[in-house]
Amino acid sequence: MIIFSSRKSEALAKEVAKGLSAKIGRIETKVFPDGEIYIRLLTSVKGEEVVLINTTQTNDDLIELILTLSAFKENGAKKVTAVVPHLIYQRQDCAFKEGEAISAKVVLEIIDKYADEIITVNAHFMEKGCKEKFEGVEINNLDTFPLLGAHFKGIPDLVIISPDEGSKDYAKAACSVVGCPHDYLVKKRISGETVEMQPKDLDVKGMNVVILDDIIATGETMKKAAEMLKKQGAKKVYLGCVHCIFAKGTDMFKGIEVVCTDSIPNKLSKVSVAPVIVKALKS
Ligand code: R5P
Repeated sequence: MIIFSSRKSEALAKEVAKGLSAKIGRIETKVFPDGEIYIRLLTSVKGEEVVLINTTQTNDDLIELILTLSAFKENGAKKVTAVVPHLIYQRQDCAFKEGEAISAKVVLEIIDKYADEIITVNAHFMEKGCKEKFEGVEINNLDTFPLLGAHFKGIPDLVIISPDEGSKDYAKAACSVVGCPHDYLVKKRISGETVEMQPKDLDVKGMNVVILDDIIATGETMKKAAEMLKKQGAKKVYLGCVHCIFAKGTDMFKGIEVVCTDSIPNKLSKVSVAPVIVKALKS
């Protein structure tokens, strides 16, 4: 097995290769003056099982993924596995309004055309129970909330809270390793950038609270949830999240400890998703 990576997922790919004692493959990636991406494999893949670790935070990451997968196929790889820790467009997993494109389905269908296996991490539609299949596309949707939970193990008087009902199973999964109580808040999304938290009487007075969510996009959800729990008397609030996009930066979280995974690498990536990926690739 040869592990390849996109430009953004190099550190994670190294961890995964180490865990599998696998060789790392080389790719030449260039960007033309007009912004188009150029991909050339520098390691032969003929007859090989290859794995590409390629997170997708931007449209360019998605193009890099598809071009690299296509190069594996063109060059005779025996089996191609796409590991896409953060799957772009995952939140548009249905037509919420008439006429909308189902973006998550389209993206997965394109990846599926070039990959024999697709592995992702806590794709948003996992909440709907889509662990092995989404809209007819086979996926291996890995759960990293137990790893995030383990990071907070040992904090006294701990309660783990999810910011909405949809993600309550995430808090439950994390608590399964920490052994603490869990609950959820009630959220109403007003627009892409605005959310409202409905007051919910939670017993957090004097407790240390970890708020866990799958995605921080604008950060509004986490910010509002933290404010509400502080108001309700929480001693200290921590934030834990799988996919930290930080579309509006991190300034809004000043004074709060934020823990992200490396599905999208950034300076707050303190939990690696490598162990779950290694386990999936071994089985
Ligand atoms: C939505 O249901 C997700 O689980 C997250 O809560 C959401 O993506 C967070 O978005 P934002 O950071 O923009 O509030």
